[in-house]
Amino acid sequence: MNPGLQIDADGRLRHLLTIEGLPRALLLEILDRAEHYAFDRAGDKKHAVLHGRTVVNLFFEASTRTRTTFELAAKRLAADVVNLQVSSSSTSKGETLLDTLKTIEAMQVDMFVIRHESSGAAHFFARHAAPGVAILNAGDGRHAHPTQALLDMFTIRRHKPDFASLRVAIVGDMLHSRVARSDIHALRILGAREIRVVAPRPLVPAGIEQMGVTVYNQLEAGLDGVDAVILLRLQKERMIGAFLPSPGEFHRDFGLSRERLERLKPDVLIMHPGPINRGVEIEGDVAYGERSVILEQVAHGVAVRMAVMAMILGETGGGRREAQAQ
Ligand code: CP
Repeated sequence: MNPGLQIDADGRLRHLLTIEGLPRALLLEILDRAEHYAFDRAGDKKHAVLHGRTVVNLFFEASTRTRTTFELAAKRLAADVVNLQVSSSSTSKGETLLDTLKTIEAMQVDMFVIRHESSGAAHFFARHAAPGVAILNAGDGRHAHPTQALLDMFTIRRHKPDFASLRVAIVGDMLHSRVARSDIHALRILGAREIRVVAPRPLVPAGIEQMGVTVYNQLEAGLDGVDAVILLRLQKERMIGAFLPSPGEFHRDFGLSRERLERLKPDVLIMHPGPINRGVEIEGDVAYGERSVILEQVAHGVAVRMAVMAMILGETGGGRREAQAQ
């Protein structure tokens, strides 16, 4: 990717498309800002940072966590938010992605949040967006899910701030996972001591070692001594016709049961981006058990997305108003 697409000449974030190539200082700035917005029951959840700005959520794939937390994040920053119902929009009549962008852009919006099944869809939007219109990638194909990685790093850092001593295992369906790719980039930028990919051979993408990870095909060895386990959803909808393990086989060999959990470090963090397949990659009582931070991840999604939106469109960020003033 051309770094200039995501970051402007002054080093400010223009769009958020990928974690790959994000400067460490910028990544840390997002996490630090998110601390400011992290949910505090005693505090005021509203900040008028995006008053007068308009954010459009365009989700061409299903979502619960990402879409809702982006909407909440925008509303807590006082932006106006539109959720386009893609299934009942004119895309069903054949309107292209580009024409959809240009049509909504004409309504003077400031930011698009886009999820799409095609890798590169968010980059396509960013290349064609008008000056000052920001694009946030909410997941594109198998490529990237940058805000998920940011909220994962935020969650890890709150429990284990010393990344240089951190051993992390990413377990499961690496083949189809945009979350795993973004997490690996983020962990490397933050200097994690060791990143392991733990999966049956058919679910390990060729050449993944080049990302600086160690591959394990046995769960017990892969989890030995780790500080955090990031479980991945078995993406059954993307496996049609492929020679891959069944959910039952996967659970037998790679599922996190209570018995397996008891063999891990006592302070291990159990993470999952969601949605979970109960009884496949994780058992229900482990997902909501004492070592799980899965619901913290969800809560942190709001704060991290607020931080990203504020950095791009807030008083120190750019946006359509600034582009028009130049
Ligand atoms: N983690 C994640 O992207 O979840 P949703 O698909 O529910 O948004």
